[in-house]
Amino acid sequence: MNPFEMKAPKMEKVYAEMQSLYAKPYDKDTVDPYTKCRIILMNGTEFEAVKHSHAIQRMIGNNDIRRALACVRRSEQQQQKRLSCLKPLNESVLEHTISYEQLAVDLTAWLAQHETDRNLVKALNFALLEDFDHLYRYANLLEMVSGIAAKSLVGGQTEIMPARPTVAHHRHPVDSVKIPAKGKSASSVTKMHASIITAAEQQTMNYYMNIAGFGNMSWIARENRSDIPGNGIWSTEATKAHYADMARRLYQEIGMVEEDHVTRYGSLLDTEIGMLECNLMHEYTECYLYYSCMQTETDPRIKKIWEMHFNEELAHLAEARRLLQTYEKKDFGEVLGDGTFPEVLVLKSNIEYVRKVLKGTVNLTDCKEDYCKVETVGEDSDFVRYQRKVVRNKGRMASHEVIEGHIAAFGTDYRFETAPHPIRSLKDRKTDNVVLGTADGVKV
Ligand SMILES: [Fe+2]
Ligand SMILES: [Fe+2]
Ligand SMILES: [Fe+2]
Ligand SMILES: [Fe+2]
Repeated sequence: MNPFEMKAPKMEKVYAEMQSLYAKPYDKDTVDPYTKCRIILMNGTEFEAVKHSHAIQRMIGNNDIRRALACVRRSEQQQQKRLSCLKPLNESVLEHTISYEQLAVDLTAWLAQHETDRNLVKALNFALLEDFDHLYRYANLLEMVSGIAAKSLVGGQTEIMPARPTVAHHRHPVDSVKIPAKGKSASSVTKMHASIITAAEQQTMNYYMNIAGFGNMSWIARENRSDIPGNGIWSTEATKAHYADMARRLYQEIGMVEEDHVTRYGSLLDTEIGMLECNLMHEYTECYLYYSCMQTETDPRIKKIWEMHFNEELAHLAEARRLLQTYEKKDFGEVLGDGTFPEVLVLKSNIEYVRKVLKGTVNLTDCKEDYCKVETVGEDSDFVRYQRKVVRNKGRMASHEVIEGHIAAFGTDYRFETAPHPIRSLKDRKTDNVVLGTADGVKV
């Protein structure tokens, strides 16, 4: 499949009537978990398209180029609006968060298994375990405050259990900057994979940046029934407020880790690409992702949206190509080779792969541009100095408190495991391990 060989509609034809932007949301009780993930992925891709296009406008003085970008950007905004309201009214912020982290896990795992650049694979595997741990922390919060088991939201396709503990994710920012995949030495597929994951992580980062402050008492939606475990923890308004505060602090804490992830992946992007080349790369990536969604979607109604957006992206791509030809006298081949899409991206279960990565790399941390075992870093390292400053009191870290809170109310943490946990020190369901991978780390 080569989008440059497809007939593209005219830009003027792609603007939609306002009412069509509010499509019927999915049914949260029957939707396929990966349909939700695809919607989040493409919403994040549209955010990136808009953000990047605005950034170019601010750095280019030619108003012909700026007008062309404004026209395409308006269409990207329409697509984003249509996607963001596919989330139904009755799906809570926390339920939606579970899908964000499931997407992070299964998108990262798929990319890592289809990537050949070792530098990018290492980054993907490293952050994979962290989003996997975030999923576990949010799942514990979800069951505590709303009585919902996250297994049903992920459709049993992604395990929910501890990995490298979130308290270990707080590292010095100098360590998250890696080596870019730049110039002719990196393939266009590697560059596209790096762009896809950067946009997805950026979406998660933005979501948590915005949502933390909106947490309120309505999040504590669990009925105080005597026939279910955890009964009694919401007996007073004060305890409800305590858990609502904990939820807001969890979004703050994990939001800080997503900043690390966006810096990490963003630092891998090609730094030698020109602005209009990068614009072409963005439109090509959107085409590839919508094409992948079309090929893998199981909901016929949502599939129609992917097809419509793919067709619109062909117009964006043609416009990006025209700008590059007109103003830089280059064609797409200089950026994308012959333009044929790589293998279609599939969001699916990766249980065995995640277990393998967990076994091999749970005790890694950053050592500048590379990674190393935590027990090998010294007391004077950037990692340890940062940990000693920022994670001074582990007992008051929200990522730890949600697990302790769940254990106190239910007797154990919340998990969904298909087999025993592969790491011995993470098997205990009555104690949250906050030593593994941290400055106080020990050998696994
Ligand atoms: Fe778009
Ligand atoms: Fe995450
Ligand atoms: Fe992340
Ligand atoms: Fe686009």
